[in-house]
Amino acid sequence: MEEREHYLLKLQDMRERERQDLAVYLHNRVLQDMGEIKLTMENENSSEKLQSCIDRIRRITYNLVPVHLENTGLAAAVSELGSQYFQNDACHFELHQFGFKKDDLKGDLRLICFRIIQEALNNVKKYAQASLVKVTLTKLNNRFILLIEDNGIGFNLNNRKAGEEKGGLGLFMISLLAERKKAEVTIESKPGEGTRIRVVFFQREEENESVSDR
Ligand SMILES: Nc1ncnc2c1ncn2[C@@H]1O[C@H](COP(=O)(O)OP(=O)(O)OP(=O)(O)O)[C@@H](O)[C@H]1O
Ligand SMILES: [Mg+2]
Repeated sequence: MEEREHYLLKLQDMRERERQDLAVYLHNRVLQDMGEIKLTMENENSSEKLQSCIDRIRRITYNLVPVHLENTGLAAAVSELGSQYFQNDACHFELHQFGFKKDDLKGDLRLICFRIIQEALNNVKKYAQASLVKVTLTKLNNRFILLIEDNGIGFNLNNRKAGEEKGGLGLFMISLLAERKKAEVTIESKPGEGTRIRVVFFQREEENESVSDR
């Protein structure tokens, strides 16, 4: 792996830690204070406004560190993320699962899957103008397959030089994170034909370990 890619992965770890610190701060300090202030409020209007601030910060905190990921697993966390992102959006969000169980993925692999889906959904929201986005989680024998597809405007893959200074980092990070787990990434897109991102994680047979231990 190139030095630059090592650097980007380190950066990703630092971002995860920063996100955690910020989420803990927002949760323990800001939200608690706001909750206390709300209790002392008499004006109904201000109390409502404060409640909507509290809800917004809660959502931000959740995006920083998906706490549900630990408790409820990848599918529930993705479902929560999707409904948040596309709640008031013309794009409809669907989550499908085949043979995938809550405990099939754990630890950093689960977080990597979540971050990949998050980057992909960010792009759908920002660029795709899609009416439908589907995330599919499939467990098939020794493989775990992640599929994120939209029916939006698509883009020309040849015009995009991943990871270049001018370009974005999202798709490049998806490839790097997948590479970290020796997964295979396929990105398919054409103008007018939507976008599909497929990531396949393999279980190492010889060690007979679960896909989650890699
Ligand atoms: N689902 C999609 N539909 C349409 N275009 C897309 C989609 N996903 C990516 N693109 C195009 O590919 C480009 C590269 O995406 P990428 O996520 O790498 O960078 P970015 O979103 O521009 O920046 P960043 O992710 O760093 O915020 C986007 O600028 C957009 O033009
Ligand atoms: Mg992006």
